[in-house]
Amino acid sequence: MLTLLKLLKDGRFHSGQALGAALGISRSAVWKQLQHLEAELGLSIHKVRGRGYQLAAPLTLLDPAEIGRLSPTSNWPVLVFDSIDSTNAEALRAIERHQAAPFLVLAERQTAGRGRRGRKWVSPFAENVYYSLVLRVEGGMRQLEGLSLVVGLAVMQALRELGVPGVGLKWPNDVLVGQKKIAGILLELVGDPADVCHVVLGVGINVNMQMTDEVDQQWTSMRLESGKAFDRNRLVAALGEMLHRYLARHQADGFSAIQAEWEQHHLWQGRAVSLIAGANQIDGEVLGIDSQGALRLKVGGVEKVFSGGELSLRLRHDS
Ligand code: BTN
Repeated sequence: MLTLLKLLKDGRFHSGQALGAALGISRSAVWKQLQHLEAELGLSIHKVRGRGYQLAAPLTLLDPAEIGRLSPTSNWPVLVFDSIDSTNAEALRAIERHQAAPFLVLAERQTAGRGRRGRKWVSPFAENVYYSLVLRVEGGMRQLEGLSLVVGLAVMQALRELGVPGVGLKWPNDVLVGQKKIAGILLELVGDPADVCHVVLGVGINVNMQMTDEVDQQWTSMRLESGKAFDRNRLVAALGEMLHRYLARHQADGFSAIQAEWEQHHLWQGRAVSLIAGANQIDGEVLGIDSQGALRLKVGGVEKVFSGGELSLRLRHDS
């Protein structure tokens, strides 16, 4: 089915006969595959009598060679899937198969993309970036401190470099424009965090998505914010170079060297917030983060520090 899509991706008309000949199948089999493409991948295909079939818009698919060419420094081996349950899940399976890290898993779509706190991550075909970078961490806990915040900062800088206006951060690792989420980060870890472990840095970026009724929070995309479509290969390359730079700084100098830069971009610095931890809610004012990436809140006049993957922040209405 995707071989057929690759023939159509130029956005030009192709006759049923030519497509059938290229694939070695009948015209009616071509027709059936086209119907599957529309139904399964949500693509729109024009069918015009006498001219053939045309994708409603040309498509640029992920291309490891192009990504490698555009990101010479972060030249990690790349595995690209047309469709996968979750790039993080596939990365964890690859670690089990003893695939040597670092390596990168990308997909055109995810059928079970996972977000933080058990949420699903909406992952339509060829519209966004679903990115999981696997690292082997040997330095113990210090190498993990603030790591998810560092990834958020690198994602934010990559989006700014490509010209998306107004991008900022929300603790712990959301990337927002205003109040709307444009990218999310999910770190998953296997092994012994105090000794040797593998960490999967999962990044989802809303790139060219313009419509969906599946996301249950305020969201936006690079395209919606800047009014133009983006080449995902360029974005993956830019993100790789940015991550390479920030991860090297983090490894050499620890999170404390990045703390001030992160705070500079924190959209909710000084704001009145509620910290949600399961059924519990703590109201306070954001003071910043500490040298390990934990959140500093003023609660009832006293500074308190919070960390943990299951926490999330909401703005208070009175802020
Ligand atoms: C969040 O809830 O903010 C985190 C979203 C993380 C989504 C990305 S998409 C690539 C990787 N694979 C997944 O299943 N999740 C992460």
